Amino acid sequence: MNLKDKITAKISSFPTLPVMVSKLLHVINEPDAGAADVAKIIQYDPALTANVLKAANSAFLGFRSPVNSISEASFRLGTKWIYQIAVSSLIFSNMKKPVAGYDLGEEKLWKHSLSVALMSEALCTLLRIRDVGIIYTAALLHDMGKIVLGEHLVDHLGEIQSIVDEQEIPFEKAEDKIMGIDHAELGALIAERWRFPDTIIDCIRWHHNPDDAPQISNALDIVHIADSMSLMEGFGYGRDELQYRMSEQAVARVNATSAILELALSKTILTMEDIENIVKDMPTENSGREVKT
Ligand SMILES: [Fe+2]
Ligand SMILES: [Fe+2]
Repeated sequence: MNLKDKITAKISSFPTLPVMVSKLLHVINEPDAGAADVAKIIQYDPALTANVLKAANSAFLGFRSPVNSISEASFRLGTKWIYQIAVSSLIFSNMKKPVAGYDLGEEKLWKHSLSVALMSEALCTLLRIRDVGIIYTAALLHDMGKIVLGEHLVDHLGEIQSIVDEQEIPFEKAEDKIMGIDHAELGALIAERWRFPDTIIDCIRWHHNPDDAPQISNALDIVHIADSMSLMEGFGYGRDELQYRMSEQAVARVNATSAILELALSKTILTMEDIENIVKDMPTENSGREVKT
């Protein structure tokens, strides 16, 4: 069995998407869905309910009267934040651990993923691009292949790094040369296992090189631009990002002017601070619940 087969074989034992997340994903992508719909899903999950109530009562939000019910909390926090809290506690416990092969310290991958999601959302609003829910999710998960690939990378770092240095190629191209697969492709295979919509799978698979994708889309261009911007800003800077370039064609395709990029960036920085304040001490003990298919 070659290295690529060994790595991809792991995907079949990779946890399937927590049921709660796929339900929330469905609701968040409905244009008419509101806080009440999200509350309906969360209220049957005691651990998630506890996390949401904790967030809603966070001192940071500065409300005087405490909230005691999930529907009250949903109205106070809004659909988007509830979704963020749910995904953080259900999926991201893995992303909060250090990712060895990439030099990504604790919480770095989570912070990077969150910043790309928030930046994507800001760009969609500024550029009047629809389907924000699906783009937000794609952005949040674009680098999840690193969680699996990182474990294998550790043993081959020397070889990969010397190819990067000698041939001046991006890190993910060197991953592919040595391991037979890169983190984008691996992430896409996991997303396929989770039966995500094709838009999300494509965003994950082509986030480093949108111009090579068989199908170009706003979603892919936005995730790519947000990823590049987030790295330039230093959110979750890791070993692999030294050679990463933003595609000028992607920027031109979505008509993102430098003023829009700057605005999206400052919006993201502010929201990052808010979310970090709210979720920083949140327990993630319920992250292990998953259903195997
Ligand atoms: Fe990446
Ligand atoms: Fe990334």
